[in-house]
Amino acid sequence: MNPTTAPSIVIPPVTGLPADFRWGVATSAYQIEGAAAEDGRTPSIWDTFCRKPGAVHNAEHGDVACDHYHRMPADVALIKSLGVDSYRFSVSWPRVQPGGRGPVNPAGLAFYDRLVDELLAAGIDPWVTLYHWDLPQELEDAGGWPLRDTAYRFADYASLVFDKLQDRVDTFTTLNEPWCSAWLGYHVGVHAPGRSNFDDSLFAVHHLLLGHGLATQRMRAASSSGAHTFGITLNMGTADPLTDTVTDREAARRADGMGLRIYLDPLRYGRYPADIVDELASRGSAFPVRDGDLEIISTPFEVLGVNFYFGQDFAGTDLDGNTHDALGEPVVRAVLPDTPRTAMDWPITPERFTQLLVRLHKDYPGLPMVITENGAAFADEPDSSGYVADDNRTAYLASHIGAVADARAQGADVRGYFAWSLMDNFEWAEGYAKRFGIVHVDYASQERTPKQSALWFRDTIGRVRGS
Ligand code: NOJ
Repeated sequence: MNPTTAPSIVIPPVTGLPADFRWGVATSAYQIEGAAAEDGRTPSIWDTFCRKPGAVHNAEHGDVACDHYHRMPADVALIKSLGVDSYRFSVSWPRVQPGGRGPVNPAGLAFYDRLVDELLAAGIDPWVTLYHWDLPQELEDAGGWPLRDTAYRFADYASLVFDKLQDRVDTFTTLNEPWCSAWLGYHVGVHAPGRSNFDDSLFAVHHLLLGHGLATQRMRAASSSGAHTFGITLNMGTADPLTDTVTDREAARRADGMGLRIYLDPLRYGRYPADIVDELASRGSAFPVRDGDLEIISTPFEVLGVNFYFGQDFAGTDLDGNTHDALGEPVVRAVLPDTPRTAMDWPITPERFTQLLVRLHKDYPGLPMVITENGAAFADEPDSSGYVADDNRTAYLASHIGAVADARAQGADVRGYFAWSLMDNFEWAEGYAKRFGIVHVDYASQERTPKQSALWFRDTIGRVRGS
């Protein structure tokens, strides 16, 4: 490492990871590609949402983003320079199947064909995510994820991509963070499509999971080698009771149920958690389950993608001490642990990362895990050459990679780690203000400059591999 780029704080070396551990960087289509109206791409729900006044910081959007669509070969060279062996990217549904139904758009699919070839030529393993939040707007107009038909449309789309790439890509992830699509998109309304209806979000959960199962079955049946790796990526945190009272323990149970168990229980065990189903029923709500759905949803898959950013505590009382809200529902109040925060105001909680991974190993055994996202936004100040001396991000990555090593030492079967993100990009409702990249992007010139954290990551990978 160039001595002038060394962290100014002491970062203990990462130890305890095997030489064959997978190392990668991650991105998603809408966050980096730009070229929003090129080669036949039609709008997704994010193109529409970004135009809604007040929805996105500074009314920003992904029309250009990192212009990756036009800079892909240079970006692959950049990825290679970081010493990683894997790259996780997503395919844009409205680019390869405009409108979300019907025939493939050859010009759109050709981009991913070229990307895969470029990656393989650089010795980098492509990890494809099929859905990273960019639902074709036409499908939202027809009802979106709360509509059952969307699950079937997703399986059709997944098949189109799989048919084209299966000869060169081993790993296909169906969905990225369905909690965000369902909860933030259809209940809280802070993500596209910006709807606010609790029951719609439950329907969206079920149809996202159904889409995952249908797509997995279709792709597995079409696999010519029979040896592909299928998976799903979930965002998960930890939900600890704020205090050891029954009220807080109940709040933590509910938060864990709605954030984690309503996804993993059906995926792994073919049933929604009984405590949550009962509580939903008492408020007149239910998942729209039809005969056979849970068998489809629990179709076996090979790898669980884990996205972790922070853990939280939960209280069963509001700040006035009430245990129920105005609608008569039990209070579930998130309390951020009292630790230093990132620019997202997210607490830095590496020990809870270990806790999560060990818990997943215990409650959902026999499922290899890969960290498909972990990273941090900090207010980065580049020097005149664009270089960012991001001690804070370097320390975040080091402590969280260390947390993965600790979890492995306790038996968790974690096989790899992807840093979020390769480069600064469009951070959804936060626009371009929040920078998660280990590579800095100057949006005016589109110049990319690896930050200190990228150089540390590269050197750490080299040390772990013993090369
Ligand atoms: C999770 C999402 O998958 C990704 O798109 C987002 O940028 C990061 N979290 C950071 O918020």
